[in-house]
Amino acid sequence: MTTLQRDSGVEVLCAPGNAGISKDSKTFPVNATDGPAVLALAQELSADLVVIGPEAPLVAGVSDILRAAGIPVFGPSEAAAQLEGSKAFAKQVMLDAGVPTARAHLCVNVQQAESALDDFGAPYVVKDDGLAAGKGVVVTNDRAVALDHARTCIEARTDGAVVIEEFLDGPEVSLFGVTDGITVVPLSPAQDFKRVANDDEGPNTGGMGAYTPLPWAPAGLTEEVVTKVLQPTVDEMAKRGTPFSGLLYAGLALTSRGTRVIEFNARFGDPETQVVLTRLDSPLSALLLAAATGTLAQLPELKWKDESVVTVVMAAEGYPESPVSGAVITGLDDVVNAKVFHAGTRRNDDGDIVVSGGRVLTVTASGSDLHKARTNAYEGVNHIHFAGEHHRTDIAERAANGEVHVP
Ligand code: AMP
Ligand code: GLY
Repeated sequence: MTTLQRDSGVEVLCAPGNAGISKDSKTFPVNATDGPAVLALAQELSADLVVIGPEAPLVAGVSDILRAAGIPVFGPSEAAAQLEGSKAFAKQVMLDAGVPTARAHLCVNVQQAESALDDFGAPYVVKDDGLAAGKGVVVTNDRAVALDHARTCIEARTDGAVVIEEFLDGPEVSLFGVTDGITVVPLSPAQDFKRVANDDEGPNTGGMGAYTPLPWAPAGLTEEVVTKVLQPTVDEMAKRGTPFSGLLYAGLALTSRGTRVIEFNARFGDPETQVVLTRLDSPLSALLLAAATGTLAQLPELKWKDESVVTVVMAAEGYPESPVSGAVITGLDDVVNAKVFHAGTRRNDDGDIVVSGGRVLTVTASGSDLHKARTNAYEGVNHIHFAGEHHRTDIAERAANGEVHVP
């Protein structure tokens, strides 16, 4: 049975939390993007470490407010979080640091977008420059669809801009580096499934499932990514006077011409984190505290369980275009061989747990190999029901059969 591993002697408190974590931890109804409110709560609780989860509070500078008050924080500054907050900024950092990525044009009007599309040709890759929760990217062979998305991004805001870039072939890998701004500690590589439906059909999402480790990954992949991607990026950010500390997430394509960065995130990725941290066999709190206090170089080497982990996202009706909230979720207590992490859930006035967001639950299970981990995860999924629920049934399937998954 998979359980949420607890580091002994560590108390976890959450703001705002949700209907799932409130069973494991005390929760506080504080808006995570409200810096002064988070600071007041951290001071009231005498927090030894504040871990900032999502991108919005990072980009809003909540970590800077906490650090200025002397509280250790896991998560980059507002300036460093621009690695996720602006795709154009991330491209410039990669260019300056010599990190391999797709060639790209930043376009601020439709004319520029048209010539960028024609420069690269099909398949077209069009990305909103700002934060879009994984849904700002369109990859299509249809020039009209590509141009339409470019126009929407440009017209969405007064400073609207769009990044158009070359298409990267090959399998995708998510590799997380924990860093204190100097030292980088890589975690177990994972693969995420971005498209909403089986066989990578339908629109992009924030991620529909994940697994780790990757039996098909080339030997030395992690070392290569640290040397060519994570360490040069961390060094470049330090050189610019805006060191990046926290979690540097590299979304990679292993193309026929070598490894390329698709994107950076400034936080743990969802749902890869569910599998990566389930496999971690060292105390997470010590790792995060070492990153926050600049002592990663002294941390003992991380240990990993000798097992595979699979997670499956259960999504709301209409996700990703227009998720429908309110459906009552049943069967959560019947899951025995998996851990259910909640995302878009809340408890209603009747005490029921109901859908309150697009990705609702991630059902995560371990096994001695990927086949067994998949069986346990899908057995868990099959116990849980809510109206309009949908999930992919092919998470980690090809990898379990000894094949490489190329989206
Ligand atoms: P991003 O938000 O940049 O991670 O993009 C989301 C997803 O779009 C990625 O995980 C890929 O599946 C796809 N994608 C993004 N950029 C490219 C690219 N240059 N070539 C091929 N697919 C891409
Ligand atoms: N799974 C991709 C992300 O967290 O952005």
